[in-house]
Amino acid sequence: MITIAISKGRMQDDALALLSKAGIRLSPASLASRKLALPDETGGYQFVFVKPADVPVYVEHGIADCGIVGRDVLLESEADVLLPLDLGIARCRIVVAALDPNVITRSFGMLRIATKYVRIAGDYFGARGIPVEVIPLSGSVELAAALGLADAIVDLVETGRTLSENGLSVVEVVRESTGLLVLNRASYQLKSAEVTRLTSALSCAIEGVSAA
Ligand code: PRP
Repeated sequence: MITIAISKGRMQDDALALLSKAGIRLSPASLASRKLALPDETGGYQFVFVKPADVPVYVEHGIADCGIVGRDVLLESEADVLLPLDLGIARCRIVVAALDPNVITRSFGMLRIATKYVRIAGDYFGARGIPVEVIPLSGSVELAAALGLADAIVDLVETGRTLSENGLSVVEVVRESTGLLVLNRASYQLKSAEVTRLTSALSCAIEGVSAA
């Protein structure tokens, strides 16, 4: 059996839809359930539903053989996992945003950056030699720039609605982010036939062709 860790929240519906296209589905009863670990209809797979940041942790430790997680989460994680497939789902961007679109060029001192992505933000500004004070937050990050806790934020943008409704605009795009399949190193060796079957089925589902 292959265990797949699924990110709960924004990625979950897209991940389940893609797995279903690949022939890996939960029964209607399982879909309606609050259980966090569930077998698929064939019994060949088990789904575990965890917070996005915990997907790489479960996969690195081998509790899950593989997982579906956003690139944003993986970049922020230090987990040692393999990355065999970009699933192209839940497409969004990691951006720098602010009330003032010229905040970076206008700044002379230390820029205050509020974010859930402490590592991504530190690496991004560090690589450009821009001195920043990173202010870690756990959500509603747009508020920090809107209310003056920070000069700018580094956050995820999907539709752009949260930014615009809070008066912010994109200053720079840090990276595109999509859902990725991540894989445990040992599972790649020890369950290679099952893992290959899964990655082939997902590749076919992405390309819209039926798996052989
Ligand atoms: C994310 C992100 C933005 C919002 C962007 O937050 O941090 O706040 O979605 O989406 P949009 O561009 O479609 O408006 P999330 O909903 O995950 O909640 P959070 O603020 O608690 O992190």
